[in-house]
Amino acid sequence: MQFNQKINILLIEDEEYDVKRVQKTIAPLSDQIRIKKIVADGQSALEALKKSPNYFDVVIMDYQLLGGITGENLIRKIKEVDATLQIIVITKMTVNITDFDFANRLIEAGAMWYCTKYPGDIEDFIYQPTDFILSILNAFEKRRLLKKEQSSKRKLEQSIEELLQQKALIGESEAMRALRSKIAKIAQQEATVLILGESGTGKELVATHLHYLSRRRFEKFLTINCGSLPHDLIESELFGFEKGSFTGAVEKKIGLFEAANQGTLFLDEIGELPISAQVKLLRVLQDGEIDKIGRTDKVKVDVRVVAATNKDLISAVQQKTFREDLFYRLNVINLYIPPLRERKEDIPLLLEHFFKHFAHTMGVDVPQISSSAMDYLQGFDWPGNVRQLQNVVQRLLYNVDGMIDVSDVKDSLGLAPKSRAAVDSENGFEWDPIHITPWREIERAFRKKYFEFVRKRAASDAQAARLLGLAPPNFHRMCKELELK
Ligand SMILES: Nc1ncnc2c1ncn2[C@@H]1O[C@H](COP(=O)(O)OP(=O)(O)OP(=O)(O)O)[C@@H](O)[C@H]1O
Ligand SMILES: [Mg+2]
Repeated sequence: MQFNQKINILLIEDEEYDVKRVQKTIAPLSDQIRIKKIVADGQSALEALKKSPNYFDVVIMDYQLLGGITGENLIRKIKEVDATLQIIVITKMTVNITDFDFANRLIEAGAMWYCTKYPGDIEDFIYQPTDFILSILNAFEKRRLLKKEQSSKRKLEQSIEELLQQKALIGESEAMRALRSKIAKIAQQEATVLILGESGTGKELVATHLHYLSRRRFEKFLTINCGSLPHDLIESELFGFEKGSFTGAVEKKIGLFEAANQGTLFLDEIGELPISAQVKLLRVLQDGEIDKIGRTDKVKVDVRVVAATNKDLISAVQQKTFREDLFYRLNVINLYIPPLRERKEDIPLLLEHFFKHFAHTMGVDVPQISSSAMDYLQGFDWPGNVRQLQNVVQRLLYNVDGMIDVSDVKDSLGLAPKSRAAVDSENGFEWDPIHITPWREIERAFRKKYFEFVRKRAASDAQAARLLGLAPPNFHRMCKELELK
């Protein structure tokens, strides 16, 4: 408690006699607790508070004022002016001292404390003085803490705003505008969201926006890529385990669902989730409870789930690799991000954005681009979507001095006959030493090339499957996944 701070009081009391009694009661600490203004009615009180915001710390108000705004109504109006203001109510003895309902109404309206005035024949005090003074000090302390909380919240809000600006969703196409407004709306809700879109369209970015625009924004936003972990690890990563629940469980592990409690969990590449984990995920989504390995009682969690995939989940459901009930449970709300080639008007804006961004981080000037190079970039189909465009911009900044021309663009897209980045082309692969391709992408590219290679040499699909040592249904499924017709 702060015994050295000055506390400014607004006193609302219409009886001169009681004003005197309040003054006498706080007299021992009059240096610190200062009645700065005395008004006789609610309206004047509100005017004084509005006129000098932040001047008063504590309001002491009589409950039985004559006319105008009084009682709970006045309490609420004061709190509207400044929610951190603390209100101490003093009431006549006529109020039944066991009337909890009355006390409750005052507290619910926003009062911090209330006391019944001493009988009128006690001239020196309005209430037991140490209690009265202590409650004023408490009120002041409560306000100080609330103010502090408000200011750190403001700072957090500010850094979240900055984060959202840094990670802005660029694009003015009809589709992007619609997407942004849908995100703003959906962020306010609690339902699970499924984000769909080709690789590199911005699914993770959209999930980030959903979290930081929601009421959960001050809590954690955690991400897991369901395709990046071996099947037997993913469940313990998601749901955790108790110490000793299996050999090797020497310590208990908090799963992501528990770690993200109150916040948002982003399940990327949800289509890769193994069936056994799908069952458990469904249970969390339905009951808000996690199945922790080695634990029989329930662990409640409050987590908003956002999932994403670039796979066709409906065909995965048909092929029984994805549970239908889980699909419907995830798909309560879905957000589809169209590929870049279907919103080409966003290309110049994205180019400008990334050129500025990366030139700035690399400490170089934004280069000039010839108009034919610009036309080429705009007309290109961008199979790797925004991520590919972003990589091309980075490559251009690394590789080109001066004006960027069509040949530079083709070079950076890997379309030129002699790519500067080519290091090892013996095996038909061009590995770029500056921009290492993520494993999943290169693995997929390899599978695709090898499948094509084998199919060209096989008389039929059945033979190709046999040569590859795959069962025909698996072979067909993989061809479909690799977009080989
Ligand atoms: N509209 C956009 N405005 C600005 N940056 C974008 C936009 N869309 C995507 N990006 C950027 O492109 C990159 C790829 O986006 P992101 O990782 O969100 O895609 P993704 O759909 O999750 O891809 P994948 O399916 O491969 O995981 C990120 O750096 C992201 O910030
Ligand atoms: Mg992603």
